[in-house]
Amino acid sequence: MREPEVRNHRGRVFAQADAAGKAFFLETFGCQMNDHDSEKVAGLLLSRGYRQVETPEAASLILYNTCSIREKAAQKVFSRLGEYRAKQSDGKVIGVLGCVAQQEGEEIFKRAPWVSLVCGSASYRKLPEMLTQLEAGNHRVTGLDTDTDETFETEVTRRDNPWRAYLTIIEGCDKACSYCVVPYTRGPERSRASDAILREVRQVAELGYSEVQLLGQTVNSYADPTPRRMRFSELLLAVAEVQGIRRVRFTTSHPSDFTPDIVDAIESEPKICDHVHLPVQSGSTKVLRAMQRTYSRDEYLEKIAMIRGANRPIAITTDIIVGFPGESESDFQETLSLLAEVRYDSLFSFKYSPRPNTPSRAMDDAISEEQKSRRLAVLQEKQREIQSARNAELIGQAFEVLVSGKSRRENQWSGYTTSHRMINFASQGKDLLGTYVQVRVTGAGPNNLVGTQEV
Ligand code: 5AD
Ligand code: SF4
Repeated sequence: MREPEVRNHRGRVFAQADAAGKAFFLETFGCQMNDHDSEKVAGLLLSRGYRQVETPEAASLILYNTCSIREKAAQKVFSRLGEYRAKQSDGKVIGVLGCVAQQEGEEIFKRAPWVSLVCGSASYRKLPEMLTQLEAGNHRVTGLDTDTDETFETEVTRRDNPWRAYLTIIEGCDKACSYCVVPYTRGPERSRASDAILREVRQVAELGYSEVQLLGQTVNSYADPTPRRMRFSELLLAVAEVQGIRRVRFTTSHPSDFTPDIVDAIESEPKICDHVHLPVQSGSTKVLRAMQRTYSRDEYLEKIAMIRGANRPIAITTDIIVGFPGESESDFQETLSLLAEVRYDSLFSFKYSPRPNTPSRAMDDAISEEQKSRRLAVLQEKQREIQSARNAELIGQAFEVLVSGKSRRENQWSGYTTSHRMINFASQGKDLLGTYVQVRVTGAGPNNLVGTQEV
């Protein structure tokens, strides 16, 4: 497999240091924030002369960037650590990064003594020092502080996606949803300086990226720490103005901080994509209160009405948890009726799982696994019908698509519309990857569209 190209922000290609024995393998679990943190960690390692390799066998340093948002994700990490136990005998250094590292802390050394590094995301800014300690042969290196007001800034980021550049604009979370580990694992909310963000956007634009995605657990809670005090909507507009940028995305938005000026910005600037990911979690005000979500069903629906009132259609997607403690059958029915009312373009749905340290862990009225599974299946079936119907309404319309995939089948390509719909399309064109084309929709399923390029 081709070695990833290493570039600094100005596009200079670094020589790949041929440091035998200084090769790292990095596996990432979880959300886009984790994926992007890994891109930054990889950049840091590459700039220190490490090579990135595709298998743990070929590496001297094995890193897992972990996720603990739901139970299964955390379990997976420990089974992965078990699998690599044997490999430690040949002198490999194994490190655990991310949310499980933060959550379990030094317990990891007890449970998996073959691990040498345990570091949560709020401490990544200290990674260069930690690497120095590891390189010096230290076998118990930790970074577990969360009381920071700093963000993780790197000189070099090794970006995985050749078309879309991810940029973290806000780290941590100050909300206190009762089921969620993020405030514990990622620490308090810290916004990056707007000038640093805009500098990075200009840099990625110069490297040839035309789409950027601004990231944060609550991206729209962004609070510029510089005297400019840019609002989130102003930042969106400023990013869209950068020469070479054609699409601006952002995720994840919190309903309580979703203000009308964000909709105004989308309305006034076509480069800001017509898609808002606005997790609701439940359609029942009673459950929302228990979740400490800071809005009621009606308040959420007001936000939806505001978005739907825009002068161009804006796709809305969401996250839903079923089986939160005390969720009655009628609460669940309220979630289903919310789905019917909003008609989401897509959604992610999860069975509730109690997480360490979170307040909801102590709540009783647990819902049985069977009930959770049934509710999840009912919800997903209902959403499937909604998506099939919504997507069918798009047949005959044409959309701009950023081409990001080429099928093995002749003349078949794929990409995303600005509303983040996947579309597979036919085209006689050559070298379409990374270009923008107009595609007319000829067919639709619940999860994607089919079309033909307009000529
Ligand atoms: N159980 C189930 N789902 C959860 N999420 C967060 N915490 C939990 C939990 N304890 C879901 C929420 C959130 C998404 C990223 O993960 O829906 O929006
Ligand atoms: Fe977790 Fe709530 Fe913060 Fe989202 S807003 S990261 S669900 S605490």
